[in-house]
Amino acid sequence: MNIQQNRINELVERRASARLGGGQERIDAQHRKGKLTARERLELLLDAGSFEEFDMFVQHRCTNFGMDAQHFDGDGVVTGQGTIDGRLVYVFAQDFTVSGGSLSKTMSEKICKVMDLAVRNGAPCIGLNDSGGARIQEGIDSLAGYGDIFERNILASGVVPQISGIFGPCAGGAVYSPALTDFTLMVKDTSYMFLTGPAVVKSVTGEEVTQEQLGGAVVHASKSGVAHFAAASEQEGIATIKELLGYLPQNNREEAPERPTADPISRVDDALNEIVPDNPNKSYDMYRVISGIVDDGRFLEVHKDFAKNIIVGFAHMNGRSVGVVANQPDVLAGVLDINASRKAARFVRFCDAFNIPLVTLVDVPGFLCGTQQEYGAIITNGAKLLYAYGEATVPKVTVTLRKSYGGAHIVMSCKQLRGDINYAWPSAEIAVMGAKGAVGVLKNVTEEEYNNLFCNPYQAAQKGYIEDIIEPRNTRFRVIRALEALSCKQQEVPAKKHDNLPL
Ligand code: HXC
Repeated sequence: MNIQQNRINELVERRASARLGGGQERIDAQHRKGKLTARERLELLLDAGSFEEFDMFVQHRCTNFGMDAQHFDGDGVVTGQGTIDGRLVYVFAQDFTVSGGSLSKTMSEKICKVMDLAVRNGAPCIGLNDSGGARIQEGIDSLAGYGDIFERNILASGVVPQISGIFGPCAGGAVYSPALTDFTLMVKDTSYMFLTGPAVVKSVTGEEVTQEQLGGAVVHASKSGVAHFAAASEQEGIATIKELLGYLPQNNREEAPERPTADPISRVDDALNEIVPDNPNKSYDMYRVISGIVDDGRFLEVHKDFAKNIIVGFAHMNGRSVGVVANQPDVLAGVLDINASRKAARFVRFCDAFNIPLVTLVDVPGFLCGTQQEYGAIITNGAKLLYAYGEATVPKVTVTLRKSYGGAHIVMSCKQLRGDINYAWPSAEIAVMGAKGAVGVLKNVTEEEYNNLFCNPYQAAQKGYIEDIIEPRNTRFRVIRALEALSCKQQEVPAKKHDNLPL
C-alpha cells in the first residue's frame, strides 16, 4: 500500500473513531436512558447527506486531574452546517458520551465558531443541549466559555433565528444560553433545566423536589414559560423544530419562505357568523376562529400550555407566514394577566424582529385585577405587551371579535399603537369598561343606555378607530387582502442606541 493510501486510511479510521464520541459503552448507556446520541439527533434534524462537520479532531487542552491522559476527538460537542428542507442552518449538538457533554473551553470555541458563521452567513443557529454543565476540571476556563457563548447569543438575537432543543440535563448557568435564544424546546421525561438541582435545593431551603418537578419539560412549558414547546419524544421534538423553521426567515433581512396552498383566499366560513354566543358571559373557542381563517387550518402554536388565556403561534395566510395573537375566551374569559402579557410580548417582538406580519384577534374583558397581579407587577408586565405592539413596524391587522375594553383594548394592537388595518365584527364591544362597572360609577346611566351606546362597534367606526365592520365569515378574505396591501409597508423608528422596554 502506498503512503498516500495509508494516510487516507488513517483519516477514515480517525473519523470513525471520532464518530463514536465517548465510545460504544457510553453510547449504549445513552440509549438505555431512552436518549439518542448527538449524531443521531443531527441525522434526524438535517436533510440526508447535508451535514458538513467542523472541528471533528479538536481536543480539549486541560491538564488538571489527569485530563491530559483522556482525549476524545471532537470533545463533547458535534458542530457544523447542514440543510433543513434545503435551507442552510448551523448546528451544534452536545455529546453526553464525552464527559457528560460538560463544557470545556475548546467546546465553547467550537460552538462559537458555528454561531459566528450563522450570523455572518445569515442562517439560523440550532443548539441541541445535553450536558452536565461547566467541565469541573477546567474551572474558570469553562465559565469563560459560557460567557463567550452568551455574548454571541445576545449579538445574534434579532439577526438570525436561534433555537434551543433541550435533550438532557441543562443546569446551572448553562440554562442562560437557551434562555437567550428565541425558542426553547424540551423533551418530556428526559430533559430538565434548573439553576440548582434537587440536592442543593434541599440543603438550602429544605424543600424536597424531584428533577422533573423542579425543571422538567411539563413544568417549564406550563408553569414558568421557560420552554416554548414540550415534546413527547426526541423524534417529535426534532420534527417540531423543523416545522417551526418553515415559518421563519433565514435572517432579519429576509422574508419567511412562502408555502403554496390550494386553500382559496376567498373561502368563507359560515360557522364564524354564529360562533359568538348571544350571552356575553358565555365563552367560545378561539382555536376554531384561527383554524377557520388561516391556510388549511394549520397552526403551529407556541407556548401552548402556558398562559392559555392568550394564544400565540404561526400560520400561513395565502402562503405567507404570519404570527397570530389571540385572546382565548375559553380560558379565564381571555383576560390579560402577567403571564399572558409576557408571553404575547415576547412573541410580538420576535415576529417584528423577523419581518413576520401580525394578525391579532381580540376578545378581551380587560386586565386581571387584585393584589396577586399588582404585587407581581402587572403594570410593568402589561406594559411589555403595549410596548411590543407599539414599537412593531411589521404589517399589523387586527380584528375585534367581541369585547375590547379599557387598557386591554389599547394594548391589543389598537389603531393608535400603529395598527395598520383594524376591523371589527358586528358583535364587537369597544368601550372603556363593561356595562356593569360603568353603571356602578355613573349613577345616572342605566345598563341599557350604556349598552346601546357602547356595546357595538359603531362608535369606534364613526371615529375612524377601526377601518371597517366585517362579516365574520369573510374574515379570511379581508385579513389576507389587508396583508397583501401591506406587504411593502415601511415605517421608521426614531434613531436611538436601543430602546428601554419595561423589563
Ligand atoms: C465534568 C462531568 C460533568 C461535569 C458529568 N460529567 N458532569 N465531567 N464536569 N460538570 C461526567 C461524569 O464524570 C461521567 O464521566 C459522565 O460525565 C456521565 O456522568 P454521570 O454522572 O455518570 O451521568 P448521569 O448519572 O446520567 O448524571 C448526569 C448528571 C451528573 C446529572 C449531569 O453527571 C451531574 O450531576 N453532573 C454535575 C452537574 C453539575 O453540577 N454541573 C455544574 C453545574 S454549574 P465518565 O467518565 O464516568 O463517563 C454550571 C455553571 C455554568 O454548569 C455557569 C455558566 C455561567
